[in-house]
Amino acid sequence: FVNAKGKQPVRIAVTGASGQIGYQLLFRIASGSMLGPDQPVILQCLELPQAMNALKGVSMELDDCAFPLLKGIVQTDDPNRAFAGADYALLVGARPRSKGMERGDLLKANAEIFSVQGKALDKNANKDTLRVLVVGNPANTNALIAARNAPSIDPKRFSAMTRLDHNRGLAQLAEKTGSSVTDIEKFCIWGNHSATQYPDINFGSINGKSLTSIINDDEWVKKNFIPTVQQRGAAIIAARGLSSAASAASAAIDHMRDWTYGTNGQWTSMAIYSEGEYGADKGLYFSYPVIVSPNGKYEIVKGLQLDQFSKERFEKTRAELVEEMTAIKELLP
Ligand code: NAD
Ligand code: LMR
Repeated sequence: FVNAKGKQPVRIAVTGASGQIGYQLLFRIASGSMLGPDQPVILQCLELPQAMNALKGVSMELDDCAFPLLKGIVQTDDPNRAFAGADYALLVGARPRSKGMERGDLLKANAEIFSVQGKALDKNANKDTLRVLVVGNPANTNALIAARNAPSIDPKRFSAMTRLDHNRGLAQLAEKTGSSVTDIEKFCIWGNHSATQYPDINFGSINGKSLTSIINDDEWVKKNFIPTVQQRGAAIIAARGLSSAASAASAAIDHMRDWTYGTNGQWTSMAIYSEGEYGADKGLYFSYPVIVSPNGKYEIVKGLQLDQFSKERFEKTRAELVEEMTAIKELLP
């Protein structure tokens, strides 16, 4: 049931709009999954010049859905147009790793893309409402680059996606404990959206009982659960021959919805601007456990005591993010 009367449309920029994730994402945004059944939307799609024809096809399909909430579609290869007046920006398009490309080359190729887009956001977006989610990899460092190129926008308006990792963890835990994903509380992902991320169950509970005592299998947590979540992206690529797309789009929807309407007191995971909380370096985009209030403000969960094992895992993912930042340092303004 859709009630699109009353509210003004919001402008949602999506980059890489005709790619795999874009193809899943746009239809769910337009149907109201992200911002609810009473929020009209205008989609502002950015693609590379060579993908404009594919984008035209996607746009035709969006028209053909006759979504009541969809009030306009912009198709462009100009970031300034895509981000004009944007209230939301989902930065999905990125340079994939090609054969023989080193990690450093990948970081640099993406640094260029996200510098341009950060500048275009700075010039054109709606700074009072903007929420930016970086999905394109390496997501945390791309978020840092975009934010640093947008000096007039609060860096807290930028984020990178670890919600897919969070959801992957919930699914594994629900299966192991024979519970529903919604029963699991206080689970989180620390650090980078990469194989060094730390999925942490130590504060988790189901109906007030601690997850560690319910699972009661430290070996499973360390040898099975943590590596499964860390390696899930690679496992999907191995199985599908393509990287995760529908689940990534679904996580992006969850991230933006929760960041807008709140998490109802529950924890979720977002990679956000670090002020140095828990010993991460100030300025990194680091995944933390957060709670979002109903007015759309996120707060990092404070006062958690990390044990020795957790501290080691935290340090590993922190060090990787510092390394990524160092690799692109000279490209930062
Ligand atoms: P894809 O290759 O199918 O689509 C990417 C699209 O982006 C392409 O259509 C391409 O033309 C476009 N693009 C590239 N550079 C662009 C630019 N500068 N401006 C605008 N558009 C541009 O890839 P995909 O499967 O949709 O994945 C997109 C990104 O998301 C990848 O970097 C992938 O690694 C990443 N990803 C992240 C997560 C996460 O959890 N954070 C999960 C899955 C995938
Ligand atoms: C994922 O987590 O599924 C992706 O980030 C994997 C990838 O390398 O694209």
